[in-house]
Amino acid sequence: METSLEIDLASFPSSEPERQYAFIDVLREMISEKRNRLGRDLTMHVETFGCQMNEKDSEKLAGILSQIGYVQTDSEEADLVLYNTCTVRENANTRVYGRVGYLGRLKKQNPDMLILLCGCMMQEEEEVEKVKKTYRFVDIVFGTHNIYMLAELLYKRLTQGKQVIDVRKEADRIVEDLPSLRKYGFKAGVNIMYGCNNFCTYCIVPYVRGRERSRNPIDIVRETKQLVKEGVREVMLLGQNVNSYGKTLEPQVSFAELIRDVAAVPGLLRVRFMTPHPKDISEDLLYEIARNPKICNHIHLPLQSGSTRILKKMNRHYTKEQFIDLTKRIREIVPDAAITTDIIIGFPGETEEDFNDTLDVIKEARFMSAFTFIYSKRHGTPAADMPDQVPEEVSADRMKRLLKTVGSTAEAEAVKLTGQTVPVLCEVYKEETGFMTGRLENNLLCHFPSEASLLGSIVNVRLTECAGFYYLGELV
Ligand code: SAH
Ligand code: SF4
Ligand code: F3S
Repeated sequence: METSLEIDLASFPSSEPERQYAFIDVLREMISEKRNRLGRDLTMHVETFGCQMNEKDSEKLAGILSQIGYVQTDSEEADLVLYNTCTVRENANTRVYGRVGYLGRLKKQNPDMLILLCGCMMQEEEEVEKVKKTYRFVDIVFGTHNIYMLAELLYKRLTQGKQVIDVRKEADRIVEDLPSLRKYGFKAGVNIMYGCNNFCTYCIVPYVRGRERSRNPIDIVRETKQLVKEGVREVMLLGQNVNSYGKTLEPQVSFAELIRDVAAVPGLLRVRFMTPHPKDISEDLLYEIARNPKICNHIHLPLQSGSTRILKKMNRHYTKEQFIDLTKRIREIVPDAAITTDIIIGFPGETEEDFNDTLDVIKEARFMSAFTFIYSKRHGTPAADMPDQVPEEVSADRMKRLLKTVGSTAEAEAVKLTGQTVPVLCEVYKEETGFMTGRLENNLLCHFPSEASLLGSIVNVRLTECAGFYYLGELV
């Protein structure tokens, strides 16, 4: 796309987000001109790989593009395609390159198409090199620290006519008040902190997301109030280790204080959070969850391994016994707490005995559900150089047994609720069937006959049947 608008960049604001809004204005005119010329809307396709942090970033990126004038489409045959990438495991990377290759073929038919790559994978130098060498048709590459600059980078690409690469090593600031295009009506994520300082030895996140930085509590509460105004009923507070929230703020604010303030926002019905680190869970937080009806009784508590020996090698700072004791303490203070987890199989040096320790903890902790992963070697992390990498067949065999144990424990936990009456948030209504889908505090879903007018409210439902990982129920 050629440009028809000459602007004087020197006159642009240097403060953020004002500078970006100035670029958005200029781009809006450029896109509108092109729309008139083509006689149709310009479309965008934003696709997210990875975790809730990336989902949240994508909502901001889609928000910027939508203000510029792009209209969302499900199809990759769009005028602009943006992949927000993840690199936590190798298979995430492989998937992205497969899809980028396909985009390259689409671009041959539509040379004006713009292809943008951002996110965690782009924070790795070797990946950027690969894009530069092998995927010349990619228009813009940026990282996790400068997503707020999307409009500026797009302007640069359209006026300079060549590949734009802008990846920063660290975040220089937290930019507030960007536009956002949310994926769901009733629920939204809210970042409370960025980055991670834990350096678990298998994990690449601290390298691609940078050091831990907390957002100001005033900004977090303000964003929550705005979301409620827009119809949101449930927020999830997002951070890699939410329990270390506020340590770098002046004055310090604890996570328990923050979640209490967020829950106090009028009109908000539910608050969740993700992820606490088992080493840092405070009793203050547990008492706040128990006391506060708006905070869901659901704690996602990543175990990773049940073997004290492996946990030490992972740099997790807790033992098998401490983890089990923590789950007991959680249930003492929050009796109906649902605990879910993440588990890694095949960390270097993991023996059959270590694996059995993991199975023990699953049975003792009675997880409501678990995300299970086969260890993936990440370049530059300490575990990548550890001896005794576990052969694939061994990990695959352990994974099968792990899934069996996780499945039966989870089902036994879920079945316990059958017959009970519980509050659910009505999220989706299907006109054809007359069924509502609601979410329990434990994050499981329940389907029940209802009417559309209940969407967005919390109702009491009797769980009549448990179908493994969801329930059937009836309104009471
Ligand atoms: N900060 C969160 C989640 C980070 S990533 C936490 O500490 O729990 C989400 C999950 O991916 C992790 O909990 C872990 O189970 C998994 N994971 C991270 N690195 C991995 C690797 N190299 N191989 C396999 N799984 C990994
Ligand atoms: Fe990765 Fe550990 Fe940080 Fe979680 S706490 S993001 S697993 S380094
Ligand atoms: Fe992936 Fe980045 Fe999240 S590596 S898991 S998208 S923080």
